[in-house]
Amino acid sequence: MRIKDLPAHVGEKVTIDGWLYNKRTSGKLQFPIVRDGSGYLQTVVFKKEVSEETWKASDEATQESSVRVTGVVRAEERAPGGVEVGVETFEILSLAAEYPITPKEHGTAFLMDHRHLWLRSSKQHAVLRVRNELEKACRDFFYDRDFVLIDSPILTANAAEGTSTLFETDYFGEKAYLSQSGQLYLEPAAAAFGKVYCFGPTFRAEKSKTRRHLMEFWMIEPEVAFLEFEGLQQLAEEFVEYLVGRAMDRCKEELKTLERDLSKLENVQRPFPRISYRDAIELLAGKGMDVKFGDDIGGDEETVIANSFDRPVIITKYPTAIKAFYMQPDPNDPDVVLGMDMIAPEGYGEIIGGSQRIHDHDLLLERIKQHNLPVEKFQWYLDVRKYGSFPHSGFGMGIERVVAWVSGVPHLRETIPYPRMLNRIYP
Ligand code: 4AD
Ligand code: MG
Repeated sequence: MRIKDLPAHVGEKVTIDGWLYNKRTSGKLQFPIVRDGSGYLQTVVFKKEVSEETWKASDEATQESSVRVTGVVRAEERAPGGVEVGVETFEILSLAAEYPITPKEHGTAFLMDHRHLWLRSSKQHAVLRVRNELEKACRDFFYDRDFVLIDSPILTANAAEGTSTLFETDYFGEKAYLSQSGQLYLEPAAAAFGKVYCFGPTFRAEKSKTRRHLMEFWMIEPEVAFLEFEGLQQLAEEFVEYLVGRAMDRCKEELKTLERDLSKLENVQRPFPRISYRDAIELLAGKGMDVKFGDDIGGDEETVIANSFDRPVIITKYPTAIKAFYMQPDPNDPDVVLGMDMIAPEGYGEIIGGSQRIHDHDLLLERIKQHNLPVEKFQWYLDVRKYGSFPHSGFGMGIERVVAWVSGVPHLRETIPYPRMLNRIYP
């Protein structure tokens, strides 16, 4: 029996296997709180009603010892989950050594060194359950809309998002890189299936030590044949509205544990505000920031823009020079591309980056050369433009940024089970 199922079994005798989370004692009574991954259960050991062995086990069990508890489920309004178990037998399966993570405050470095244990703590547990729900929601969203899942490779021969953040490895004497994005592999698949997506780990050797960057993160990327820039923005809006709604619907307990301000999430309704890069620069300059056309919009600037709105905002049409080689130029304004970023509210930064893709073979070839990319490694990618080219668009969303925003945790390191950061690959 799992703890979360107990409310439907009031009056029945059950056995729960789990770990001792916490314990209160008052003379002849002990209240061990047991967790099993599905929930927390208050158990009640009454000295008069149990064997000496059970009393002793409950008394001696240390924090995080694995235990087996048998007893009758009773309704108890004040207990977590609304039920408790009146203990008949309490058994220690394995006595835990002195547990390093106690209810007192610990420093971040200490907690990160103990990430494998920190996962058991209630907030970390809640964040990763939100992640679990959002990942399933991503898959449901695209599956329900008839997208085909295309698993893109992790080992690649070419860069996708600039050459400065590549993790290089040896592939039997040839240079290979860990994938920065599945996008390039999705584009040919879009010609095969029309609507496709991938969802896998991606890697960026970003020398940046910010709360928004990981070296390894999971990205969900749709790619759609014959979809143009306007439709792309609508797809991104619909997707993000769906994800937030799904978390509010199915992660109520977790969001409560995380003390998330739900009023902020309730605002996430379409349509989202949109602002062009040119207008964004004006907005920032108007707020006294030192930015001009051609500058990158960094984290601080994103936050200023996001704070001007009460829901995610889409920034469109960035300068060609600061965006990836594959983005389609704006036919009405050749200095900018049909690229978009979606910025989350509350300072969580860019959650989505996407664009319409160049579908003209010769223009794409020219861009590959301009970016000093090795043309011979991109022949297969150029083929998409050679054999029945078609306008198409797609985006990528880093799941960790969305989990952080929805959960209200400031740093990405808590949104992935084992974060890979600058200076950290342990545990
Ligand atoms: O904007 P990016 O670099 O876009 C691409 O990779 C495109 N090829 C996607 C596409 O069009 N199919 O990354 C997309 C998203 C960002 O908006 C952000 O959410 C996340 O990936 N991201 C990161 N998340 C965590 N740590 C990092 N270092 C990240 N870099 C990007
Ligand atoms: Mg981006």
